[in-house]
Amino acid sequence: MRKPIIAGNWKMFKLLGEAVDTALALKPYVANANHCEVVIAPVFTALKMVADRLEGSNIQVAAQNCAIQGEFGAHTGEVTPGMLKDIGCSYVIIGHSERRQFYCESDVAVNKKTKAAVEAGLNAIVCVGESLTEREGGEAESVVKTQLRGSLAGLTVSDMERIIIAYEPVWAIGTGKTATPEQAQEMHGHIRRTIAGTHGEATAENVRVLYGGSVKPENIGTLMAQPDIDGALVGGASLDADSFARIVNYK
Ligand code: PGA
Repeated sequence: MRKPIIAGNWKMFKLLGEAVDTALALKPYVANANHCEVVIAPVFTALKMVADRLEGSNIQVAAQNCAIQGEFGAHTGEVTPGMLKDIGCSYVIIGHSERRQFYCESDVAVNKKTKAAVEAGLNAIVCVGESLTEREGGEAESVVKTQLRGSLAGLTVSDMERIIIAYEPVWAIGTGKTATPEQAQEMHGHIRRTIAGTHGEATAENVRVLYGGSVKPENIGTLMAQPDIDGALVGGASLDADSFARIVNYK
């Protein structure tokens, strides 16, 4: 059985005080959520304090990015996955479409970051997803397959135990336009089949595939009812503790 993950991606929002307040407000709301893992991803500057304040709770902390390098070095502005682990992170989001789109992140970079993260002992949430033009051009499946193959190249079957895939159609992010549960299910099935091809049936059966893109308390239930949807990566609706808690407690 795959344990679902509900992860909140706070993107570039919240000063330190607000990040801590939201995390602390969330704590009691989700304290009994044993049906899923609960993860929040604040900005870098809030990670350490949020992780400290959540210690002993059932909420885990994720970074939103990491360096391609695992070793210390002269790389101004970068943060290694080991540094993130050191301050209490257990997850890192890699290759979010905003990073692919606005920061030129390629599948090669995503692959390096993912390997560095796994080596450091972090769980990596690797994001894939097609644009509207690609979907309308009938290329969604081939785009996602290429992203998956590139992002996961060279990872072993045992590395894959630390990998979570997030399918986030770019046209559904922050637009209020969710993929229908059927569209999402179709792509999640395709993702699982692609991983069966690259890493074998057992890995494909065990890997958790999250859906992201305008997930809200109102639509989480029907999404989670799909057999291949194992959780959600939530942006806008995760910024408010009450709304994120309603998504976590979808059951
Ligand atoms: P959204 O963002 O929920 O605001 O659409 C999702 C994401 O980008 O992870």
